[in-house]
Amino acid sequence: MTGGKGGVGKTNVAVNLGASLAQRGKEVFLLDADFGLSNVDIALGLRPKLTLANVIENECSLDQIILKGPYGLNIVPGASGLPHLAQMEAKNYAGLIHAFDSLAGKLDTLIIDTAAGISDAVVRFAVAASEIIVVVCDEPASLADSYALIKVLHKNFGVQRFRIVVNMSSSLHDAKQLFAKLTNVTDKYLNVVLHFLGWIPEDELVRKAIRQQCAVVEAYPSCKAAQCFNNLAQSISELPLPRVGSGHVQFFIEQLINPKFAVQ
Ligand SMILES: Nc1ncnc2c1ncn2[C@@H]1O[C@H](COP(=O)(O)OP(=O)(O)O)[C@@H](O)[C@H]1O
Ligand SMILES: [Mg+2]
Repeated sequence: MTGGKGGVGKTNVAVNLGASLAQRGKEVFLLDADFGLSNVDIALGLRPKLTLANVIENECSLDQIILKGPYGLNIVPGASGLPHLAQMEAKNYAGLIHAFDSLAGKLDTLIIDTAAGISDAVVRFAVAASEIIVVVCDEPASLADSYALIKVLHKNFGVQRFRIVVNMSSSLHDAKQLFAKLTNVTDKYLNVVLHFLGWIPEDELVRKAIRQQCAVVEAYPSCKAAQCFNNLAQSISELPLPRVGSGHVQFFIEQLINPKFAVQ
């Protein structure tokens, strides 16, 4: 879950998509990878005592930091004090691989909520993930930032496929129009394929749920936004995603910490 710009709804989409998938009986983990401003916990009113930083320092196990979110969604709290991925020491890498390996077999889907921007960490998480979901909204800055992110991931790391979620739209029609605007530009300058994954309306109940520190799919399950999140979860379940087995988790972490992925 990424998008270039802040405030486009990445965290909100990550939380509600995760909750909706969890409601379908999937074992879903949501990694809050916005290490500067961890905000999944705030979005859900959780107060993590331990974070990934403690795991990486071998002070506790991953199991001990996981918090339960809506419908049993597993939240993995990030950490503002986490060492920069590029500067992590070998023992920290090993700790991270070991920690996530303990999840293998228990885990159907790992959703990663990235920070805004195109920092080294954002790029690493995007490249390591098996699918990249870019959240956009109808603002010139959101389109420009999404394009810039797609361009970097394509030109520097060879990523070719992106899934787009249009957030805060007024209709499916408008969402598809915005998607077309983005594909017009990418088709012209980049050799990438964008897929329209879904849309979420601008909905006062989303804001109300956020104020109540709840997922809208749990607090207001029959509202339009919740239905769209459920459609999004349905679309995701239909993707041929790899089941996250042991080898896959290891691969994910190796990609994440691979020095060749340093931003150029
Ligand atoms: N579908 C929506 N309808 C109404 N408001 C929304 C919607 N999605 C996001 N917002 C608003 O945008 C703000 C930022 O969302 P957030 O998920 O934190 O963005 P990001 O993670 O991209 O920075 C939320 O606090 C909320 O007020
Ligand atoms: Mg966020």
